Amino acid sequence: MSLKFDLNTGYPDLSLVPRGRLLEHLEGVFESGRGMQYTGALQGVASVREPVADFLTRSLSAHVPPDELMIIPGTLYGIDLACRTVAQPGDVVLVEEPTFFFAVHLLKMSHVEVIGVPMGADGIDLDALESALKRYAGRVRLIYTIPSYHNPTGNCATAANRAGLARLAAQYDVLALEDATYQVLYYGDPPPPALKTFDLGGEHVALTASVSKILMPSLRLGWIWASTAWIKRFLGYHTNSTPVLSADLVADYMASGEIDGQLEVVRAMLKRKHDTVMAALREHAPDWLMWSAPNGGYFLWLRLPEGITASEVEQAAAARDVSVMRGSLSYAQPKDDQTLRLCFAMLPEPDLIEGIERFCAALKGF
Ligand SMILES: Cc1ncc(COP(=O)(O)O)c(C=O)c1O
Repeated sequence: MSLKFDLNTGYPDLSLVPRGRLLEHLEGVFESGRGMQYTGALQGVASVREPVADFLTRSLSAHVPPDELMIIPGTLYGIDLACRTVAQPGDVVLVEEPTFFFAVHLLKMSHVEVIGVPMGADGIDLDALESALKRYAGRVRLIYTIPSYHNPTGNCATAANRAGLARLAAQYDVLALEDATYQVLYYGDPPPPALKTFDLGGEHVALTASVSKILMPSLRLGWIWASTAWIKRFLGYHTNSTPVLSADLVADYMASGEIDGQLEVVRAMLKRKHDTVMAALREHAPDWLMWSAPNGGYFLWLRLPEGITASEVEQAAAARDVSVMRGSLSYAQPKDDQTLRLCFAMLPEPDLIEGIERFCAALKGF
């Protein structure tokens, strides 16, 4: 059931889509005779990989060569592909605890055991990660991580934490998959460099992301940045399902440089919405509610006091036409019912304010 004030779904605000500009680029793609044929190149054609590599080089402040990129149908596909490539049924994939709920679902579809490793404000708990790597030695094939503006907590791993994670991945010879969906969506200072840049040997971190949160999710267009050896392995498991029309359209949009201005607009709107939600919570939330203070991304993470469960709050909010997400859904192993995730990216600002006011009114009923 969809409720009017949706603080649950992690979708972008579609008013951000530059429809006119995309239409013009689409005409250009057709006029040039591209965008209509089967892929042809499993990795993505060079004329697509080059502008994507240039965009990543600019936006990540890291050198991304086109031959270290493969073009894929979105980040979810990247997670699935990495898991299928490295893991056999029964192997172990380590994830942050909590983590992106849909990633857990996807990983389990590969019949792997998904094990949560605690995390804090600075990133994944490195001691706990090392213990898990030792405990499941020989079975851990992948570490799935969201270092920047994590879903669902909004946390951003420090540079030292990223360096530690990359070091452990190399030491235990395990691939870390960096989900960089929110890396470029900061509201103030940029986050530390991508985890991938801390992988000194270049063989233990692959990065995946997409245009979903910066341009339009229905394009289903993303990438994996990894060493050429890893790209070769991934290609062996790739289903060649990348939408060619989207790829050519995104390539032209990126080559024009318009993506840089678009990113600024997206960041500015996210910052406004973040500030709006924070102000509304400060004004209306009961004293006992605890919430995170992210510097980027889509989400706030709320903690409830003992005696009030997220399930109860979810119901009370729904009675006021507000949907929120129970935090317990974001865990690989069952967890307490004391947390909630709020997404403030999708709703227009007036609805966002009313949604938070209604949510807080629901909380005050406890
Ligand atoms: C952490 C994370 N990864 C991936 C996705 C989805 O990515 P894509 O649309 O590129 O498949 C989302 C949100 O929808 C997300 O929050």
